[in-house]
Amino acid sequence: MNPSSSNPASPYGTLPPASAPATRRPVSLPRLREMHQSGEKIVMLTAYDATFSAVADAAGVETILVGDSLGMVCQGLSSTVGVTLETMRYHTECVVRGLHRVQGTAWVIGDLPFGSYHESREQALRSAAVLMQAGAHMVKLEGGGWTAEVVRFLVDRGIPVCAHLGLTPQTVHALGGYRVQGRGDEAGTLLKRHAHELEDAGAAMMVLEMVPARLSAELTGELTRCATIGIGAGKGTAGQVLVMHDMLGINLGKNPKFVRNFMEDAGNVRDAMRAYVRAVKEGSFPVDDVHGW
Ligand code: KIV
Repeated sequence: MNPSSSNPASPYGTLPPASAPATRRPVSLPRLREMHQSGEKIVMLTAYDATFSAVADAAGVETILVGDSLGMVCQGLSSTVGVTLETMRYHTECVVRGLHRVQGTAWVIGDLPFGSYHESREQALRSAAVLMQAGAHMVKLEGGGWTAEVVRFLVDRGIPVCAHLGLTPQTVHALGGYRVQGRGDEAGTLLKRHAHELEDAGAAMMVLEMVPARLSAELTGELTRCATIGIGAGKGTAGQVLVMHDMLGINLGKNPKFVRNFMEDAGNVRDAMRAYVRAVKEGSFPVDDVHGW
């Protein structure tokens, strides 16, 4: 199987050969800041291996999240809680290798798994170093409040950080399920406070998952140094992220309501990813009222 084959029947689509000159500049933190400031939507997608990261890159995906969702979509776990740092290191390396094979330009975010940053700032630094040395450009961690101190510690040591608020899957047991967060004045105010603390701590990006569209749009307007990336959070965020298996319609479980199956109208995976990139850039995905928010 050769993902860079020019076989038009390839389910991946055609990739540029590894020897082709790079036509895009590598995505960098300044470039992401520029996009945030200018209002150009940032497109993020999860990928967990070399082939899919290369295809996503060729499709124009700017930021690839090696999410701990791999526990559910690759390992068959019932939640992300069982994912280990070693597993995240392995998949981060695979993703980065795939990008190198095709001179990819995407920005790679490695997800710090449950238990790998909870003990102390020093433990978080050691865990982040493992993912950065595997080739990640940035690490992501979940939660507000106590995590601000951890974020500041990492950022001060030159590690770009993406925060994650709203539905934080690593705490699904404490949250009582995969449900909308930040509903109501009190919960909304708390989520906003955490978001501002994380921005002040230096988080450059922030995933907002399953948050009312109005709340995420308001927050997006308030945060000037931190780009919000929504998933099930309406269209008012600075960018969007989806789990790859969801947008390709190959999720083993029930697809969340906010997901669109981009494979339905596409002939191959790359074209499905291209359609996703286009829809996010032009603002036709997501729709705001999917949860009646
Ligand atoms: O692990 C993951 O894929 C994520 C996304 C759902 C944002 O955190």
